[in-house]
Amino acid sequence: MIRPMRPVIVAGNWKMHTSPADAGELAVTIARRTDERDVVRVLCPPYVCLAAVRDALAAEPAGRDVAVGAQNLHHEVAGAYTGEVSAPMLRGLATWTIVGHSERRRDAGETDALVNEKIRRALEVGLRVILCVGEQLEDREAGRAEAVVRDQVAGSLRDLETVAPADREAVDGTEGTDGAAAWLTIAYEPVWAIGTGRTARGVDAAEMAGVIRRTLGELGFLEGGEDVPVLYGGSVTGATIDEFMAEPAIDGALVGGASLKPDEMAAIVARAGLTARARAGASPR
Ligand code: PGA
Repeated sequence: MIRPMRPVIVAGNWKMHTSPADAGELAVTIARRTDERDVVRVLCPPYVCLAAVRDALAAEPAGRDVAVGAQNLHHEVAGAYTGEVSAPMLRGLATWTIVGHSERRRDAGETDALVNEKIRRALEVGLRVILCVGEQLEDREAGRAEAVVRDQVAGSLRDLETVAPADREAVDGTEGTDGAAAWLTIAYEPVWAIGTGRTARGVDAAEMAGVIRRTLGELGFLEGGEDVPVLYGGSVTGATIDEFMAEPAIDGALVGGASLKPDEMAAIVARAGLTARARAGASPR
């Protein structure tokens, strides 16, 4: 079997930072500093900044290849849900969305079943999904990391193994892809590494990427999940990206704090570009 060549992806999660007044300028600065055609770049600003970032990137030649993502979405399409944002509302504002981030699992009590509903809503409007999974420190110390991540993947993706996005035209950059890679990227983010300055080891992240793909295979995903990109997330910076990009099982990074810093993003995307070009050179054509 010829293994599908997976894209290299760097996604920035701005969390609750920036404002409509400054987000567009930051996005353009990052776009210019990371102008690397071989790397899929995604910026996920707060909801209220989505339009500003979209417009600023569209007006900037270096910004046209940078995708815009939401950080979350509601599991219903409309209704009496004060303060929430649904998938249809994101049409035209974003082409990607993060789901199941550990901060939402922690602060909003999101379960795998809820995350599964959110993914369904995202697919109905053609959004590409970055599903976040990862164990707590006590899980790792108790030797449960693999089981926790396997359960999260299985629960979040239950009965989605044969799903294709409803609106394929809205899904950019996935021409010729039949499997879940057309809509799914998984970010392995050990919770103890997020915002702590402490990263996982590259080999451990690669091992977990293997667990994730094996689980996709067990769930019946096409290609045994081998075509689905798996990113590492948790204190990724220009100084820490190398050990992850050196792992063939890891296809890029979901970057939090450092994604607000153009210098850091420039270094991260430049390193990701080396891997992307090495893969393109090595792949059978
Ligand atoms: P961090 O966040 O890079 O600030 O650790 C990563 C994330 O939460 O996705």
